Amino acid sequence: MRLKKISINKKNINLSNQIDIKRIPDHIAIIMDGNGRWATKKGLPRSFGHNQGVSALKEIIKVSKNLGCKVLTVYAFSTENWSRPNKEVDFLINLFEKVLKKEINEIHQESIKIKFIGDLSPFPETLKSVLNSSEALTRNNKNFILNVCVNYGGRQELVKVAQEIAKKSFSGEIKPCDVNEELIKSELLTQGVQDPELLIRTSGEKRISNFLLWQLAYSEIYISEVLWPDFDESEFFKAIIDYQSRNRRFGGIESLANESLKDSYCSS
Ligand code: IPE
Ligand code: IPE
Ligand code: MG
Repeated sequence: MRLKKISINKKNINLSNQIDIKRIPDHIAIIMDGNGRWATKKGLPRSFGHNQGVSALKEIIKVSKNLGCKVLTVYAFSTENWSRPNKEVDFLINLFEKVLKKEINEIHQESIKIKFIGDLSPFPETLKSVLNSSEALTRNNKNFILNVCVNYGGRQELVKVAQEIAKKSFSGEIKPCDVNEELIKSELLTQGVQDPELLIRTSGEKRISNFLLWQLAYSEIYISEVLWPDFDESEFFKAIIDYQSRNRRFGGIESLANESLKDSYCSS
């Protein structure tokens, strides 16, 4: 089944024709990387790249939602990003607040549920209050989930999970043999959301940078050479086409998703 009804940029029709609408990943995670290099290449301060990165995110939310993806989880600020110069950290904190205040009504109108994943405690009260009120406003929205990872680190998340489980064990609520994958999943910040089928990282870097360490265990990884501010509908379509060409084996020998392979296997 091909894409017919959704509005797509004319120049991307050829790419969209290669997408099987029935096999759109439900959950896509994105490491939005390359804002600084985008600006530096143009002789501009890094902050221009972060501003432009917001426009790219707005487009990708729209495109992924139109395609039928259900959850988008984006990495906006890592626990390691505090090591950047204060000026850049302050700029990013102000940008989060400014963008959210400006966009939250449209996000709500689009029936998008927004969630912030990470330790929000070190952020200024004004930002925390905007983050919390945005989550509260969109809590019951059903069309799409947008998880924004801020002050997020996969290792820190797992440490927190271990602490919660240790507390439950110490209080006698659980026994050590009760610790299993389900229990760990239920303590993750992403609890209730299935793992991403696809991870996209832009700017050509081939690392995870402490993102969703547990959740990405079996995600397909797509590295785009394009810097995040230039990542648009066509680049997103390329990621989906590449994902749909993969044979997801999960340790087995045959992909259930690859129907043609399945047919040839069954008929031989
Ligand atoms: C990603 O772009 C945005 C954040 C990490 C906040 P970068 O700021 O990492 O851009 P580069 O990688 O330095 O080009
Ligand atoms: C990862 O990008 C974090 C975000 C995109 C928010 P970084 O630019 O911080 O990662 P490294 O330093 O290249 O690993
Ligand atoms: Mg970077």
